[in-house]
Amino acid sequence: MAAHAVRRFPEGFTWGTATAAHQIEGGNANNDWWEFEHAPDTVCAEPSGDGCDSWDRWREDVELVASLGLDNYRFSVEWSRIEPAQGEFSRAALAHYRGLCAALRDRGIDPVVTLHHFTTPRWLTDQGGWESGAAVERFGRFSEVVAGALGDVMSRACTINEPNVVAVMGWMAGMFPPGKSDKELSRAVAQNLIAGHRVAVEAVRGAAPGVPVGLTLSMTDYQLLEGGEAKLESRRHHSEDVFLDATGGDDFLGVQVYTRNRIGPNGWAGAEPGVPVLDMGYEFYPASLANCLRRAWDYTGGSLPLLVTENGIGTTDDVQRIDYVRQALGGVLDAIAEGIDVRGYTYWSLLDNFEWALGYRPRFGLVSVNRTSFARTPKPSAAWFSSVAAANALDA
Ligand code: GAL
Repeated sequence: MAAHAVRRFPEGFTWGTATAAHQIEGGNANNDWWEFEHAPDTVCAEPSGDGCDSWDRWREDVELVASLGLDNYRFSVEWSRIEPAQGEFSRAALAHYRGLCAALRDRGIDPVVTLHHFTTPRWLTDQGGWESGAAVERFGRFSEVVAGALGDVMSRACTINEPNVVAVMGWMAGMFPPGKSDKELSRAVAQNLIAGHRVAVEAVRGAAPGVPVGLTLSMTDYQLLEGGEAKLESRRHHSEDVFLDATGGDDFLGVQVYTRNRIGPNGWAGAEPGVPVLDMGYEFYPASLANCLRRAWDYTGGSLPLLVTENGIGTTDDVQRIDYVRQALGGVLDAIAEGIDVRGYTYWSLLDNFEWALGYRPRFGLVSVNRTSFARTPKPSAAWFSSVAAANALDA
């Protein structure tokens, strides 16, 4: 009889799912993304509008995470709601997020709070946003207020979500606000975001001692094609290494991976023939997660534990979603077996939501959301992911 192979995750391995404020709350009209979505010449497919109406329906989201039996829920707080004008903090908005944290804790779920997930208040972008060093100080102040208000109810803090993506998409690719294409400026913004990360770490440590804090970085499995050495080295340096260099002394590193990037002499070489291309325009490549965990571990010399703070797939084919996550998790097990300290896995995302410039078309959720009634319906992948988390094991 064939052996039924079950591969276990280490005891204490933590399972979660993630969202971000602007992608689910709805009505975040006071930030730079809203403005970008509504610009006459916008590159955005559609505006974020009501999101998943999670500003009102957050209790339903908590119940969903609880019904999946997950250990943690990663979400972000919306800066433009908490500080709607410079120096003016909304006690009501802070109380809203306190309520969310408390409800999660009541259900045995650890709240993982991201301080900045792509959106910046308009009052700050009107002053130059992250192009200006002033943003660093403002973000430090904001982080201090949030850490002070939520320190006793949050389990972990993530500073700036994917600062590398913000710098590149906003100031090189023009697909995020402010929609610019200027390499030098993009690199200057990256430096300010790095400084923002450092001040946020200090703010959390000061106002919420004992709450682990770290960076969540977008990583790509860079693969070398003949003649692409110099391009690959430069890409990886500017988009990953300068950020990894800024994580020394943090409590963890959040690794976020979706695909690979094949680099030849002219840069990105596109998809390999025969490999499926997803709605996001990149390849189905679940092995990228383990490869990036290896790279993060090697580069940082194993100096801080790793957490997969995002991994997932945008697809309308839920069988393909399970296939992707199963393979990605197999890779996580391989990485752990090689001695890499990976402490948890977070699926992106709980809900089908606003996928930035691409609008609501890419479907990353374990749960679908009706675009008019906002009714939530778990997909088969939700039940599958829940069973893997419950078993803390992958049934090969
Ligand atoms: C990440 C981002 C998320 C989500 C995801 C799927 O880069 O942090 O907000 O959009 O990609 O594309």
